[in-house]
Parts: sequence; structure tokens; C-alpha cells
Amino acid sequence: METRVQGPKIVVTPPGPKARELLAKDTAYVSHSVVRWYPLVVESGSGCMVKDVDGNEYIDFNSGIAVLSVGHSHPRVVKAIKDQAEKLIHYSWTDFYYKPIVDLAEELVKITPGAFPKQVFFSNSGAEANEAAMKMARWHTRRPLFLAYTGSFHGRSFGTLSLTGSKLVQRRHFFPLVPEATHVPYPYCYRCPFRLKYPDCNMWCVDFIEEEVLKKFHPPEDSAAMFIEPIQGEGGYVVPPENYFQRLKKILDKYDILMVDDEIQAGVGRTGKWFAIEHWGVTPDIITSAKALASGIPIGATVAKEEIMDWEGGSHANTFGGNPVACVAALQVIGIIREEKLLENAARQGTHFMRRLKEMQQKYSIIGDVRGKGLMIGVEFVKDPETKQPAEQEVIDIMNKCFKRGLAIIISGKSTMRFAPPLIITREIIDAGLEVFEGAVKEVEAQLK
Ligand SMILES: Cc1ncc(COP(=O)(O)O)c(C=O)c1O
Repeated sequence: METRVQGPKIVVTPPGPKARELLAKDTAYVSHSVVRWYPLVVESGSGCMVKDVDGNEYIDFNSGIAVLSVGHSHPRVVKAIKDQAEKLIHYSWTDFYYKPIVDLAEELVKITPGAFPKQVFFSNSGAEANEAAMKMARWHTRRPLFLAYTGSFHGRSFGTLSLTGSKLVQRRHFFPLVPEATHVPYPYCYRCPFRLKYPDCNMWCVDFIEEEVLKKFHPPEDSAAMFIEPIQGEGGYVVPPENYFQRLKKILDKYDILMVDDEIQAGVGRTGKWFAIEHWGVTPDIITSAKALASGIPIGATVAKEEIMDWEGGSHANTFGGNPVACVAALQVIGIIREEKLLENAARQGTHFMRRLKEMQQKYSIIGDVRGKGLMIGVEFVKDPETKQPAEQEVIDIMNKCFKRGLAIIISGKSTMRFAPPLIITREIIDAGLEVFEGAVKEVEAQLK
């Protein structure tokens, strides 16, 4: 798809006057439980670009946080939304029937890993999709316990917050949560929690789960499911090593513990595969999706093996899940990814992106690690490559400089810049964005010396 603008255009240093006016009102009226990265007041988006209320144009390496994968306001998505809104906006899927939801369920069954019968539960967000997975796993197994990872993010509802383990602020003063979730270390090789080195470690982090957790204090016969992120999103765009999930799945299967694959950030094509777990060749028991699925219209989907989704009628439902407008948008997203060959583009442009970033790593000692798959890429900043002390303030400075110069990008984990542009991105736009990024890195590194 052709994008309208190829580079940033800053006409007034942001935040401009219109943005400042809105920021004051936002402070007065909008909940302060959310923290904005920088004062970007977005007015419109097109393709890989966003425009602020003062007329500045930015390259978007955020995609509205991994949501606008087919680009902002893709014409096919917009048309489908308009047409559906004129026909039927809502009619409670949990009480009646309509076609878009069945069509979408059929497509999701096709594109998710596993050539066995599957069914789909619909909701409105990532947290809700995971909440459904938690309830489904308990219902099916009649077991109460869950496993999750340190550094994970699965949502902020009470159930999913019990699994989330990425930041204290997300949990502080909210206890008690849903009891009985145990967190085990995520395979974060750059900062191995066991201070070991891959591959010499022989992936002790997997065996640890069996030897130190399942055999000592978390009885497997009481464990319903383990929630995984195939690539940790909020935790710092962390990519587990090859074979990791194959080894993990074997252990889970041994004890009949379900694997719930949270693909809310990594799925729907972002990594160059429909679902990131495919990079490991593992077939999960339950997959959750949201974010990019309907290109910005709220939706959540929990896809499970038919035999696992055996809960009885009335046991779980909602009013708005699988709303027809969201379903037609999602059907377009899937169609666009297929027809515009966006899996291939994500893989191809991701390779270019990684190459450019690794070249930068050779030039700037402040870049400690470059990792990713497809267009889900993390660049971790350190004060010193030997001590690996996180460069927390420096990464904020780089992000702010990028913003002022027309590149919208944010941080994840402690000091990792996350790159999650629309999957339609071209090499020209990547290079224009990386020029801004490199300029900021160069300046911040010079200040450090
Ligand atoms: C991996 C993952 N799971 C779950 C969620 C929660 O999704 P939502 O914000 O739609 O509730 C997120 C959101 O960032 C996520 O990245």
C-alpha cells in the first residue's frame, strides 16, 4: 500500500499551542492512572504516519501500541466499518446470532496453529481475552493454580493482574488478587536471571520449572495452565532462545498443564508469522488475541481446542464481545494481511531493520542488545556494555528527542526502545525513522562521555 507521506514534518516544536490547550483540559478531566510517554496529541493517522493537532507529522513506530498493523485507517477497514455501521451496529452475540462473528471465528480457527477442531470466545480487549482463558482453563481442568513469568504482562483486571509481573506500580495497593499464581523467570538471555550463558546453560530455566517449582511447592495435579508471551512485550521485547518453548511444552504436556499463548502484542502477523509461537513450532492449547486484530476497534478473542472449550452454556458471556463492526474490521485485517503479503513484508522489513540496528550497535556502546522477530524489535540501552547497567534516563532522553523531531516511538521494560511499526512499512520510511533515531542516540551517547 502506498503511504501518503514518507518522512516527518515538524512545523512547530511539539507540544504546539493547540496541543498545550488540550493537555490542560486532559489534566483536569481524565484519570491520572495512565501515564503518557510525551505530549503527542494525535489528530489523524494515515498509513505509517500520524499528524498532531498543530500540523506536525510523525513516522509512527508505535502503531498505537501494536494495534494499527495494517496501517492507520486502511481504506478497506474504513469501508467495512462504515458499511456494517449502516446495517447493524450491535445485537449481543451471547443472546442471538449474526454472520460476521461466525465468519471471523472460522478465519481465526484457520490462521491459529493446530490442525484440529477449535472454537472461539469473543470479548473486547486483551485482558478480557486472558480472563476468559483463565476461567476456561479452570473450568476444563477443575484445577485452581496458574503459572506465569516474571516480567510478563497479561492485563490489569483482577484475574489477569494476578499473572502480570512486569511493574510494581501495576499491582501496588490492589491486593488481594486472584490467589494461586506462581511466577517463574522468563528466558531473558541478555540478563539471565540465573546468571548463566546460553547455550552452555542447557536451558536450566526450563528444567527449573519442573525441578524447583512443580516438584517442590506448586503441585502439577493442581495446575490448570501456564500463561506465556512468545516474545515478552511490556517486559522489554525479550525473545526466548531457539527450542525454548518446545522444551517447555513437553514438561507442561507431561503434567497435563495447558499452555495459554498470549499473542495479544506479538500476534496477527507482527513477527512475520500469523502467531509468534510458530517461530518455535509449538502448538498451544489456548491462544489469546486482541490489539491488532480489528485495527483499532475493540475486540478480544480466546481460541481453544474444541475439547478444552467444554464449559457449559451460561458459564461465561458478555454484552459487547465480537461486536459486528469489530468483526468486519477484523475480517478485513486478515484479508489485507493475506492479500498485501504483510507476513512477508514484516519478515523482509524486519531483517532490514535488524541489520541497520545491529550496525548502530557497533557504533554506539550505549546500545547493549538488539533483538526481535519481524517487526517486533527491541533495542536495549546500557550505560556500559560490560556492567550492562540499564540506561534508564538516557533511553527516555532518546525517546523525547525522537518525538520532537517527528518519530513516535516508546520504551518497554526498563531501558529498551520498542519498534512496532505498521506491517505495511516500506524501507524508505524505516530509513527515514532510523535517521531520526540514530541522531538522537548519537547525541545522548555524546552527553554520557
Ligand atoms: C501481551 C499482552 N497481553 C495482554 C495485554 C492487555 O491487553 P488490553 O490492554 O487490551 O487489556 C497486553 C497489553 O499491552 C499485552 O501486551
